[in-house]
Amino acid sequence: MQFGIPRRELLKTLPLAAVGATVAGKAAVSQVPPQIRSTLVVYFARTGNTTVIAKQIRRSKNADLAEIIPVDPYPEDYKETVSQASRETEAGYLPPLKPLTVEVARYDTLYLGFPIWGMTAPPVIRSFLRSNSLAGKTIYLFITHGGYGLGSSIEVLHSHLDGAKMQPAFSMEADQERRTLEQVTGWLG
Ligand SMILES: Cc1cc2nc3c(=O)[nH]c(=O)nc-3n(C[C@H](O)[C@H](O)[C@H](O)COP(=O)(O)O)c2cc1C
Repeated sequence: MQFGIPRRELLKTLPLAAVGATVAGKAAVSQVPPQIRSTLVVYFARTGNTTVIAKQIRRSKNADLAEIIPVDPYPEDYKETVSQASRETEAGYLPPLKPLTVEVARYDTLYLGFPIWGMTAPPVIRSFLRSNSLAGKTIYLFITHGGYGLGSSIEVLHSHLDGAKMQPAFSMEADQERRTLEQVTGWLG
C-alpha cells in the first residue's frame, strides 16, 4: 500500500498517466505560436575571433546562427592556409561549401561575419554570396582583422550585394594567428 492506494492499482494507472501527460504535452506544444525569427547571423572563422562576435550578436538579437564551412577544410598549417587563400583569391576560385543548417531565404536581416584574409574577404565568403541571393535583405557586416585594416573587403562585399540594404559595418582588430604562433615558437625555443 502506498498512500492508501494498493500497489497493484497504482501500477495500473501509471502507463495511462504517462500517456495522458504526453498527449497533454503535445497539445500544449502545438498551441504555442511559432516564434518569429527574422534575423540570421552567418559567419566564417578559422581561429574563432569572428565566432565570439557572431555568438554575441546571436544572444543580443535572439537570432539564429549558421557557420559557413568549406567542403574541403583549409590546412591546419597557417602558412599553407595563407598561400592557398592567396592562390584562390587570385584565381577567383569559389570553394564549394557544406550546406548551411538554415535557409537564408527565410530571413530578412543578416549579420554576415568573416576575418580579413589577404587584405580582402576570404574566398568562402564569395562562394556564399554567389550561392545565396541577398537582394532586398538588410545586411550588417562584422569583420575581424589582424591589424592591417579592412583592405578591399567592403568594396568587394558591396559589389556582390546588389540590391541589399547595407548598414554600417562593425570591424575590430583581433588576435592574429601569425603573431601568436611566433610568440609561442619563441617561448618554446
Ligand atoms: C589566411 C589568412 C590571411 C590573413 N590575412 C590578413 C590580412 O591580410 N590582414 C590582416 O589584418 N589580418 C589577416 N589575417 C588575420 C585575421 O584576419 C585575424 O586574425 C582574424 O581576426 C581571424 O579571425 P578568426 O579567428 O575568426 O578566423 C589573416 C589570417 C589568415 C588565416
